Amino acid sequence: MHVLAIDQGTSGTKAIVVDAGGAVLAIAEEALRPRYLAGGGVEQDPRALLDSVLTAGRRAAAAAGVPLDAVALANQGETVLAWDPVTGEPFTPAIVWQDRRAEPLCAARAEQAGRVAALTGLVLDPYFSAPKMRWIREELTTEGVVTTTDTWLVHRLCGAFVTDAATASRSLLLGLEDARWNGELLELFGLGSERLPEIVAGDAVVGTTTAFGPEVPVTGLIVDQQAALLAEGCLEAGTAKCTYGTGAFLLAQLGTSPARSASGLATSIAWRLRGETRYCVDGQVYTAASAVRWLADLGLVSGADQLDAVAAPSGDGVLCVPALAGLAAPWWDAGATASFTGMTLSTGRGHLVRALLEGIAAQVAALTALVGADLGAPLSRLRVDGGLTRSRVLMQAQADLAQLPVEVYPSPHATPLGAAACALMALDPALDAAAAVGGWRPSAVYEPAWPPDRAAAYLERWQAAARTTLSSKEKS
Ligand code: G3P
Repeated sequence: MHVLAIDQGTSGTKAIVVDAGGAVLAIAEEALRPRYLAGGGVEQDPRALLDSVLTAGRRAAAAAGVPLDAVALANQGETVLAWDPVTGEPFTPAIVWQDRRAEPLCAARAEQAGRVAALTGLVLDPYFSAPKMRWIREELTTEGVVTTTDTWLVHRLCGAFVTDAATASRSLLLGLEDARWNGELLELFGLGSERLPEIVAGDAVVGTTTAFGPEVPVTGLIVDQQAALLAEGCLEAGTAKCTYGTGAFLLAQLGTSPARSASGLATSIAWRLRGETRYCVDGQVYTAASAVRWLADLGLVSGADQLDAVAAPSGDGVLCVPALAGLAAPWWDAGATASFTGMTLSTGRGHLVRALLEGIAAQVAALTALVGADLGAPLSRLRVDGGLTRSRVLMQAQADLAQLPVEVYPSPHATPLGAAACALMALDPALDAAAAVGGWRPSAVYEPAWPPDRAAAYLERWQAAARTTLSSKEKS
């Protein structure tokens, strides 16, 4: 069996062809660059997203040269657009999950935040889909349907009008226990008259497509972060991973219990497979690779590959809070802004690069502590994947600050491999999740080199710096 698994992410689209044993036969990637607008807007051209899916998918299929049995799709999660359900043409840009322009719409509903959290497991924040859907309706168009990008892409591939349960659970419109669209939430966001996609399982076949060659089933629909959680074998409650992509996302498996976070994290559906719904808790760093791209745009590094060569051995007192698109858990402050502090005349670019990498690691370390508090026991190790795991400086800083062994997933393709696993389960009813993802050994393990008191002192200073980046609304 061969699956074409496509990871449609924020910074690019990757397509792989994988066999039933998890071997990757071919890879193709198409880069994407969001538009960053004044006022916190982050947009993408939907046609560029679709073109990247088709181009990467066709290139990978051609390079593999084997008959395909299914196409799987991982998606960005909370990125939304309005489109014409008859022609499939987009009416608006894709409003990216990092976009903060719906913050006033959340503020206007602040009194309902507790009720929203109780129903959805999420926080009332513009990161999630519904505020951006409402923003599109108020600011851009009332035409057509307004959905997450997966629904649109799948419609373009096979005509279905669906979203998977994990993606739907990132919307603020889903009841977490029953995994159904919730009327009270739809009314709260003024979306009660919208046509909403059918919610399907990750192993559901939703149609067929000829977009990549001979007709094959479309299945294996899942959010990218949850796909990586699956690929990394985080199947038991308490296991956790962090993916360092455009943002960095720490997810811990909760099993079949939709336990609400007591630490300000988000609870959502990990996946629905084999008729069972699994849940996870997550914490978010909104800018990881996009903070590195920002450094590159300023000319401080040529790209992510140069980070370790440029980073100084220490930040020499410089601290960075990489809140370039606001802060998520546990602050949930869309108005927070990034900072570098502690600079002197002797500060060079190497210190800034080091401080930025340590800032990402410090934020993830803070999240590991919150996840541990929710789970009732500290994490014993952290599995990691994503492009920035190639930075040894970042990974060592992660181990030092989180005081955990950091185990690097051996493949750079965790997200599409997770989507492929869902598709393999659809194709083979005898396959369980553990067999679908297989076992793995880390390609590298980073052990903490700092003593605990040094890590604690750094995190205390970093937390103080983070508080100064909060918007005046949050400080008051
Ligand atoms: O929640 C947004 C996240 O899933 C996007 O992932 O890989 O595009 O940074 P990525």
